[in-house]
Amino acid sequence: MAKNIILEAIAREMQTGVLVLDPALRALYANPFFVNSFPVKDGVEGRMLEEIIENTALASTVRSFLAGRYSSPESIEISEGGRFFNVRLVPLIDRNDFRLLLFLQDITEEKRVETIKKDFVANVSHELRTPLASIKGYSETLLDGGMDDKNTLKEFLRVIDRHATRMSRLIDDLLTLSKLESHQMEIVSEPVDIKEILLSTKTGFEKQARDKGIKITSRIPEGLPKALGDRDRLEQVVVNLLDNAIKYTPPGGGVSLSACASKGDIRVDVKDTGIGFPPSDIPRIFERFYRVDKARSRDLGGTGLGLAIVKHIIQGHNGRLHVESAPGKGSTFSFSLKACN
Ligand SMILES: Nc1ncnc2c1ncn2[C@@H]1O[C@H](COP(=O)(O)OP(=O)(O)OP(=O)(O)O)[C@@H](O)[C@H]1O
Ligand SMILES: [Mg+2]
Repeated sequence: MAKNIILEAIAREMQTGVLVLDPALRALYANPFFVNSFPVKDGVEGRMLEEIIENTALASTVRSFLAGRYSSPESIEISEGGRFFNVRLVPLIDRNDFRLLLFLQDITEEKRVETIKKDFVANVSHELRTPLASIKGYSETLLDGGMDDKNTLKEFLRVIDRHATRMSRLIDDLLTLSKLESHQMEIVSEPVDIKEILLSTKTGFEKQARDKGIKITSRIPEGLPKALGDRDRLEQVVVNLLDNAIKYTPPGGGVSLSACASKGDIRVDVKDTGIGFPPSDIPRIFERFYRVDKARSRDLGGTGLGLAIVKHIIQGHNGRLHVESAPGKGSTFSFSLKACN
């Protein structure tokens, strides 16, 4: 097979943009990936670089690269139309002929992951710093003579204990999430009695709900088939959903747990008559650290990881999650799993 057929196929199929320029920065050739990324009416050939990519940073880098006999940087990151590209400049000299090749690699996804990582570190640091600052403040006050009064001592130690508990919960949740995300936590698949999970979790929250003046009710049909899943992980899902339902429902409200079987699935609904949230927040509430009302959630001891864990566990079961909510009216969080036949 002729070499140029192979080279043409490479240029056509490669997932990197290639633009060939003459010494005056006029385009001689662009491969399909480039043309798709930077569409130009009537084609790129014969056009000046600036007409094709209107990016002053790129134009000036290319010019100083040429003027400096290629001693300036050989690559530059540019952002165009919401996408990021790493542009590599490669001079091609053949006797008296000169061409400049630009290779444009789409790095939008890498950038996105980088931003998520940076945000994550910033969020974790912030979430740890808040309780740590309190622990430090209160213990310093105690050491500076605040221990003399027994009541103050007890009260401050309680605050310290509460913040330390919050930090250790945050770290436990982060470890759980990280294990779920890296698939280190195996999700076993065995027949699980959903009714038993719902009722035992309900019992566990009974005191917390009573203290807050919230009534928990349940409606689970007799003979509900078992679901296929991991008992402990599913219990965690119910705990996180019930914890939210109680946390975000004012005194006097109600929370109901129900389950039903339909079309080979088991569906669980955790419904509350609480504060709810606008439907526009629904796509975001499963993100790590996202809280509709940061101050309120933090006052209630929340870190914004509960629903991220729920999402990962349900995804790990190939199940489905559904949310309905209206501000001031309440929310319903539902999940469905395969039933056991
Ligand atoms: N039942 C609910 N009613 C109203 N808002 C809710 C409900 N469940 C979740 N939310 C909103 O979604 C946000 C994210 O919930 P998530 O459980 O992930 O975090 P959290 O409850 O703030 O903290 P954590 O669960 O880590 O203690 C909450 O901060 C809250 O704003
Ligand atoms: Mg929560």
